[in-house]
Amino acid sequence: NYGLLGIEHLEREEIEKILELAFFYKDCIRKNIKKLSALKGKSVVNLFYEPSTRTKNSFELAAKYLGANVINFTTQGSSVQKGETLKDTVSTLTAMGIDAVIIRHNVSGTPMYLKKYINLPVINAGDGMHEHPTQALLDMMTVMEYKGTLKDLKIAIIGDIAHSRVAKSNLIGFSKMGAKVFVAGPSTLVPEAAKKFGAIISYNVKEAVKEADVVMGLRLQLERQKKNLFPSTGEYAKYYGINSTVLNLAKPNVLLLHPGPVNREVELTSEVMDGEKSCIGEQVTNGVAIRMAVLNLLIGGNEYEKAV
Ligand code: CP
Repeated sequence: NYGLLGIEHLEREEIEKILELAFFYKDCIRKNIKKLSALKGKSVVNLFYEPSTRTKNSFELAAKYLGANVINFTTQGSSVQKGETLKDTVSTLTAMGIDAVIIRHNVSGTPMYLKKYINLPVINAGDGMHEHPTQALLDMMTVMEYKGTLKDLKIAIIGDIAHSRVAKSNLIGFSKMGAKVFVAGPSTLVPEAAKKFGAIISYNVKEAVKEADVVMGLRLQLERQKKNLFPSTGEYAKYYGINSTVLNLAKPNVLLLHPGPVNREVELTSEVMDGEKSCIGEQVTNGVAIRMAVLNLLIGGNEYEKAV
């Protein structure tokens, strides 16, 4: 009942297994098969201490498609407002009979901290600047869907690497799967530490994007930055933003990814975001399938085996 704390802890074979099951679930969703039973009788809590549209709602749908009961917990309107600690909040919910905790928190390491206190699978739905494992899994699934493999692909991750849990999980994940990962952006937002995870660093977006198979923009994490923003959003858009000129330097069949939400006309121009190379909508769709796969593998009854 370890849970999913980060891509860092997954073996390549485990990633492959999750992707395979997710493709199976995507097919179920496509055929409108949304009343499965792998999680029948189970209850999960969506414990979100930070805002979310994609992750929270797709975890809810994923759990419901598999037959689970779902508690959607946000700090607003809860006893967190009266000072209840995270540990006491989770202990209280555990006493109600839940089977897994899905947590998003602004503090890095929170899912790992929780694991010390509860004997249930904990799924990291994004912790501070640390990891966002299900986002990386759905990104890998999206690329796999279009390219058929991840091996030897050139992946260019552009932007606010320093504050991005998405960048870190993707860097680790794509590298484990045999892709070459380049990260680029302003020097203020691209830490040398990215090399530790196998990244090739550049401060020149055009250089990083050249001949890339996949270009991934990242949201400027304004809420995690100090007061003085270097570059400003205007400067960022001008020198590091992804527009059609930049994207045309990549391979003709390049895939454009972004985890969302997008600051339009900052990280991406609307032209490329809504253009034919954009896979942003498909990423969101795949998010439901990935989360179904993760939930089934952690607490389910192995629907895949039965269906096969
Ligand atoms: N990509 C992502 O985590 O989006 P949300 O913050 O909307 O969940």
